[in-house]
Amino acid sequence: MEILVSLSKRRGFVFQSSEIYGGLGGFWDYGPLGVELKNNIKRAWWKAVVQERDDIVGLDASIVMNPRVWVASGHVDTFADPMVDCKECKKRFRADDLAGHVAAGVHGHAAEAGVARCPECGGELTEPRMFNLMFKTFVGPVEDQASTVHLRPETAQGMFVNFDNVLTATRRKLPFGMAQIGKAFRNEITPGNFIFRDREFEQMEIEYFVKPGTDEEWHQHWVEARRNWYLGLGIREENLRVRRLDKEELAHYAKDTYEVEYLFPMGWSELEGIANRTDFDLRRHTEFSGRQLTYYDEESGEHIVPYVIEPSSGVDRCFLAVLFDGYREETVRGEKRVLLRLHPSLAPIKAAVLPLSRHESLAPPARKVWDLLRPHWMTQFDDSQSIGRRYRRQDEVGTPYCVTVDFDTLEDQAVTIRDRDSMDQVRVPIAGLVEALRERLD
Ligand code: GAP
Repeated sequence: MEILVSLSKRRGFVFQSSEIYGGLGGFWDYGPLGVELKNNIKRAWWKAVVQERDDIVGLDASIVMNPRVWVASGHVDTFADPMVDCKECKKRFRADDLAGHVAAGVHGHAAEAGVARCPECGGELTEPRMFNLMFKTFVGPVEDQASTVHLRPETAQGMFVNFDNVLTATRRKLPFGMAQIGKAFRNEITPGNFIFRDREFEQMEIEYFVKPGTDEEWHQHWVEARRNWYLGLGIREENLRVRRLDKEELAHYAKDTYEVEYLFPMGWSELEGIANRTDFDLRRHTEFSGRQLTYYDEESGEHIVPYVIEPSSGVDRCFLAVLFDGYREETVRGEKRVLLRLHPSLAPIKAAVLPLSRHESLAPPARKVWDLLRPHWMTQFDDSQSIGRRYRRQDEVGTPYCVTVDFDTLEDQAVTIRDRDSMDQVRVPIAGLVEALRERLD
């Protein structure tokens, strides 16, 4: 983890938020390469679940919603963790976490009696207090109870409350889904493990509406589809597993949940939850809003309340898994080579243009080659230090291809493409360079 935190900072993937002021726990900034990788993850997800499917439409709902939404969803009552403080060292812990029986990602469980001493210093702990994880803020100029709102702790509710709007606008038939990518906020008691558990993070969520009775079959479909998505991004099979949650681990809305987990350095941890939310949310919003959130089933001639299968993944956790999975250290000709073996679709930079040296005759053709590639992909130009060091720099950030412009280029109008993983080099004419790279990147 330390190696990756350091690489992330040094190469511009992830910085501590407001670092010059000492940072803020659970908040992170994505740097120039990080924002590219993050966007590529989101693009890959959107392509797989919206663009390539004929049964899912996209949505971008607001982060701040009517406060009644969170009463109806159950978050006001149940999205809370028991918190204890050490009277000696003042460290704060989740009481259910200390008891060791609840995965840290599961919220809403009360503390059990038993753990009375601080695991850090052995000091006495306070009595557990329930602590709601939703961030509060105010809408409008008056800061009172009536103007209190919450930052959404999940993007899901934006989709449930738009069920009728989307159904009417798109005239969809069951089964169909909505997909959304967006920020979510949780005032986690113990953020940590770099970007694994944050207070501000991004989710990629699908709410897939199905006929009651077909929900278990669709649940299996989505578990398989989501696992395959990670494998398709090149995540190694041995680092990925699917785990069915025990009954006591289920969220308040779920009948059954599977987690896709990744083998992080701190052990198997959740990348994505795939829950069967039943008709819980649509029924609750019908009850609290007074608006019927139903579907007219032509077959039976009845209005039904669909069940929901919800694959819900975290962009930041996927980002971390992709970094871990791609990270390699190799020895090449007696020297250490650090390599990020990222899937080409995720790599922040697809190709780097490197003139062999800073000789003045190489700059113009190298710049021309760079001009040629920039409209197609995120690329970089680098002419500082030896060519070997520049290859290493690109390997370390996962750039799949380096394009080298050398003295022969001046004669043969050709360049060398170097492959990140094999380090093989092939010569291609500049006129065919875009096509040659496209073939490889696709
Ligand atoms: N709508 C369902 C829901 O929000 P969740 O299991 O609480 O379910 C879904 O969250 C996903 O969001 C998780 O699998 C994880 O990838 C991500 N996530 C949740 N809390 C997070 C946090 N504090 N920091 C980073 N990612 C988080």
